[in-house]
Amino acid sequence: MTIRRIIKGIVVAMLGFYFLAACKPSDTGPKKELHPPLNPQIESKITELMARMDTLDKVGEMTQLAIDMISVGDPYALKDPHQLDSAKLRKVLVDLRVGSILNISGHAYTKDHWHEILEVIQRIAREEKETGIPVLYGIDAIHGTNFTMNSTLFPQPIGLASTWNLDLARKMGRITAYETRASGIPWNFTPMLDVGRDVRWSRIWEGFGEDVHLVSAMGTASIMGNQGEDISDLYSVAASMKHFLGYSMPITGKDRTQAWIPERQMREYFLPSFEKAIEANAATIMICSGEMNGIPVHSDKKILTDLLRDELGYTGLAVSDWEDLPFLHTRHRVSRDYKESIKMSINAGIDMAMVPVDLEFPVLLRELIEEGEVPMSRIDEAVRRVLRLKFQLGLFEQAIPPKDQYPKFASAEHAEAAYQVAAESITLLKNENGLLPLSKNDRTLVTGPTAASMIDMNGGWSRTWQGNDSRYDTPGKKTIVSAIKEELEGGTLRYINGVPDTKRMGIKSAVREARSAKVAVVCIGEHPYNEKPGDIDQLSLEQAQIDLVKAISKTRTPIVLVLVEGRPRIISEIADLADAIVHAYLPGDEGGRAIADILFGDVNPSGKLPYTYPRFENTLLTYDHKGTDKIKTDFSTNAFNPQFEFGHGLSYTTFTYSNLSVPTKVNMKEKLSISVEVKNTGPRYGKEVVQLYITDKVASITPAVKRLRSFEKIELDAGESKTVNFELDIRELAFVGRDNRWIVEPGEFEVRIGNQMAEFELSK
Ligand code: BGC
Repeated sequence: MTIRRIIKGIVVAMLGFYFLAACKPSDTGPKKELHPPLNPQIESKITELMARMDTLDKVGEMTQLAIDMISVGDPYALKDPHQLDSAKLRKVLVDLRVGSILNISGHAYTKDHWHEILEVIQRIAREEKETGIPVLYGIDAIHGTNFTMNSTLFPQPIGLASTWNLDLARKMGRITAYETRASGIPWNFTPMLDVGRDVRWSRIWEGFGEDVHLVSAMGTASIMGNQGEDISDLYSVAASMKHFLGYSMPITGKDRTQAWIPERQMREYFLPSFEKAIEANAATIMICSGEMNGIPVHSDKKILTDLLRDELGYTGLAVSDWEDLPFLHTRHRVSRDYKESIKMSINAGIDMAMVPVDLEFPVLLRELIEEGEVPMSRIDEAVRRVLRLKFQLGLFEQAIPPKDQYPKFASAEHAEAAYQVAAESITLLKNENGLLPLSKNDRTLVTGPTAASMIDMNGGWSRTWQGNDSRYDTPGKKTIVSAIKEELEGGTLRYINGVPDTKRMGIKSAVREARSAKVAVVCIGEHPYNEKPGDIDQLSLEQAQIDLVKAISKTRTPIVLVLVEGRPRIISEIADLADAIVHAYLPGDEGGRAIADILFGDVNPSGKLPYTYPRFENTLLTYDHKGTDKIKTDFSTNAFNPQFEFGHGLSYTTFTYSNLSVPTKVNMKEKLSISVEVKNTGPRYGKEVVQLYITDKVASITPAVKRLRSFEKIELDAGESKTVNFELDIRELAFVGRDNRWIVEPGEFEVRIGNQMAEFELSK
């Protein structure tokens, strides 16, 4: 080893050490531990690499473009079949040194095509660019690797949430990571941690429902599944918690419109899911496309730096959302032009700009640096985070994994896992006179607009962005009608699509068939949508579908409603006309099988609502609203009168709760130990979600009627009983007080599990 090399080694090690020291929490620095933790070896490698990078290399690393910009054709109108364009590739990767590419254009690619694309991209980046820095490819694989043809398609996250099964959330994350890496892609823009407290929003199905505890638990499990033990392994990907912060409650109920969220509400309801994800070492974070309290989040240093970095100690990469830098000028009008938007957002804390079809960003950012408008320290911090992720993912050692390492891609084993999630998600909302399970020997009418459609069961982010093109259905998967047909033994199936047309012929034929059927399974709900195109002017189910159900009900044939929908569309006009109601959410490619198995009793339903199912357009309260908990005739009412409550879901067996044990007095320094006995008192095996709710009887801020503080999903054979133990940290009783800080107040509390209730007193 030459003297020069030794000296260089020492300098690099020292720089790495100084960097680490600078990142350590200090009195003035982050109050929390750093997450994800830093690895000194990687930090020194980054320091060494950055010493060789010029400004162009650095702004390139901070740029993320859509695949459109390196492909043949025009942006958003690429040549089909997809082809890379070698001139564009060199312009983007070598001249502009762009460090990250995302998404598909048009429709999903085969696994082989993904490999071809990524091999070319990485070869050019590694061999033709002086720094040799590999490209970071990112994709939305939110319910399986939905942009690779024939991959395993799970239920959408709202369905996963309704399983209340954290093992399944981890499993779905693992399989998604496996199939995403199998496609050569190491970065997944999932999970969505926005708490869905306004069910009108078009992205409710991408998240885990309305409750802070459930969203946090599911989100953490999903991150652990996606990232595994170490994101450098061939079967893990970097997750991206999104969209930070305040995206899910626009006052209009429409996507990307303004939200007004006071700090107390922001901290108590919208921040915790991100805090938990940070503790679970989520590798990256995506920023909210909307604006909160009149400030577009992409320009908000208080949120992106003071809160995220200084207060929460987050070290991962912050990527913008789609085109949100230019929108600071064109949509939000907080900047005079694009250049000022770039200055604002980079200075606020954006590390990588998703500027999908625009080559101006790196050029303008370089000018801003030269003009002293964006400090080099900010650029270095951002680039360090990008490079850190590339090192952590192992991209420098192996930019894309060998193709033959993934024998389980789209395997029967993976399909079985998707089936399990679907089967545990489906929620039995109503079952009068024991109509369900159905007999396999009856004449059964299946009808309704979602009965024979795979795209309706998959929803958005399925092979295409909107998920509405049935040409890309996975071969061999079953719709609801085909799965029911297969299950029937002596019975006959009549299928009428029943979709009401102008002459109402669909309805007439369905009614005719219903007359001679023993039961009518009416599949209603929503057709696929995603983001802005999913905005609606009314939450009620479309009139034509309501008319179909009403017309069939006149025949007096018992009705089972199957709701295939990504948000709870109001059904109050028809709910009483149905004997049974099954909520399937968006159950994915195995949804048909799972629904049929529930209808015929091969599977005992165990899903529970992850949101309040509203009865009225103007009463969209969440279960944990403040005030009184039931509609009253006096004037203290909140008018909380949902169609079905959060946490509700029936079974074909019965569970009896007893012996709730809660200490009568607890001290702030102790843990709260609670137990309850659950017995399966019905005729068959089943799963039950034991939900623990706590009510603060008196508090300095109006307390919620109840809050979910813990849950456990258990399984019980007929006649079997189990004691379920919960041990809660007293911090679980905290709320955000009058000064916007978390506080636990002594006093009386109520604990509710099932029909059991007990009180305890918390003392100092
Ligand atoms: C969505 C994000 C998504 C991104 C990349 C945006 O429009 O809001 O959730 O990750 O596109 O596809």
